[in-house]
This record gives sequence, structure tokens and C-alpha cells, in this order.
Amino acid sequence: MIPIKDQTGIARMREACAVAATVLDILKPLVRPGITTQDLEEVGRDAMRRLGAKSACFGYQSGSRRYPAHTCISVNEEVVHGIPSLKRVLKEGDVVSLDVVVEYNGYIGDNAFTVAIPPIKPKVQKLLTVSREALDLGIQQALVGNHIGDIASAIQKHVEKNGFSVVRDLVGHGVGVRMHEEPEVPNFGRPGTGPRIKAGMTFAIEPMVNLGTYKTKCLSDGWTIVTTDNSPSAHFEHTVLTTARGPEILTIPRPI
Ligand code: MF3
Ligand code: CO
Repeated sequence: MIPIKDQTGIARMREACAVAATVLDILKPLVRPGITTQDLEEVGRDAMRRLGAKSACFGYQSGSRRYPAHTCISVNEEVVHGIPSLKRVLKEGDVVSLDVVVEYNGYIGDNAFTVAIPPIKPKVQKLLTVSREALDLGIQQALVGNHIGDIASAIQKHVEKNGFSVVRDLVGHGVGVRMHEEPEVPNFGRPGTGPRIKAGMTFAIEPMVNLGTYKTKCLSDGWTIVTTDNSPSAHFEHTVLTTARGPEILTIPRPI
């Protein structure tokens, strides 16, 4: 069952997502040579506290493990779920994906953005541009009456047309009172397949795009997902509300 949010749920989703977007916006300009991913983590953690929100990642349980940080920061060949560390000093050319998921008033906002530290290779710039465009194209398919496969296929087509690959092992998701709700929102698939979209659904649409192979594996820390060929990866994500008037991106910074 895909949850449909009522007016109260929608209002709360708007607030949680605005907070998530505000925290992400605080982090983006701090991505510079010499900063550690632990520094970014601490800024993110403090911003969430200040805004009255909790990290939905901290303590998040997967099997017997609990995620140990408040943000996910994934560098270069790390696709998602990178654990911030004092040992990871950022440098020129790094591709840094920031993923911020907050809980505010019982609702979850989920968003991610990838920043590269100049100078970067043209191919890496293209990876970021295409991934960002793929997110926009996916969001444009989040229309009442469409199917989840329409979102998936729009993302996959744009990425592959440009010579990159979409990750298969992880997918976007419904989001609301829990971080992961139904349905799965893959970044690959065929138009007209999967659940039908109705008004009042909230999805985290999140293309994970690799410069090389789509194949990934998990590191021995139990969390960090990396590309198997060590090629760089990008990740852009918005939480989106479906309405009769079209998709509404909720993860936009605004005062609440
Ligand atoms: N945006 C990620 C997701 O949707 C956040 C994961 S948080 C973690 O899966 F706790 F699993 F790291
Ligand atoms: Co997500």
C-alpha cells in the first residue's frame, strides 16, 4: 500500500523537507580543499539541532548495524552511505555527494546533492550535469496517472544516452513518516510499468549515476557503497509531492 498524505501530512512533509533542504544548502558551500567529511558532519548535525530536527540516518538500523553519523558523505567512487571521517580530507578534483535526511514533527525530508571541487575533468562535470538533469526529468514524470516506471525510464534514458550508467542495487523510495515507504522508485525500468501514481504521494527520487560500470559493492564497514571499477559517482535527490497540478519539489530551502 502506497500511503496517501492528507492535508496535515502534506503540511508536515513541507516543513520537514524545507529543513532537510536548508541543512543541505548550509553544507554545499563548505565543500572545499582541506575540510574533512567529519567537519561537514558536525556542521550538519548542529544545523539539524538548531532547526529542531533529528537526523533520520543516525542510528538507522540495517540488519544488525546502526548507521553511526548524522549525514552521509560519499567521495569519488563512493556512491552513497559514506560515513564521515576525520581521516577524509577533501582535495581538488574530489566529487562529494552530501545526503541529508531529517525527521521533523514526525515526518521525514530526504535530499542529496553532489559538488565537485575544482579543477575537475570535463567528463566529471558532464557526470554532474547529466545526473542533475536526470533528476529533473524523473521529477517531471511524477504525474498523476503515470506509473513509477515512467520516472525510472526517463532517468535511465537520459543517463545512458550520455554514456553513463545508473546504479541498480539501490533505488529511490516513498518517504513520509518513515524514511523508506512504498513504493520503490528505481532509476531504471520501462515506461507504463510499476504502481500507478495518485495525488498525495511523496517520493524520494534519487538517481545514482556512475561514470563507468553500474556495478557496486558494499565496503567492509557495512555501509559505504562503492563502484566496482572505482569510477566516480554522482547522487542528486529531492523529495517530491504528487498533486493534480503536477509534481511539487518539497526539498527547497525556506524559513518555517
Ligand atoms: N537518502 C538515503 C536513503 O534514502 C539515506 C540513507 S541514511 C542511512 O537511503 F542511514 F541509511 F545511511
Ligand atoms: Co533517499
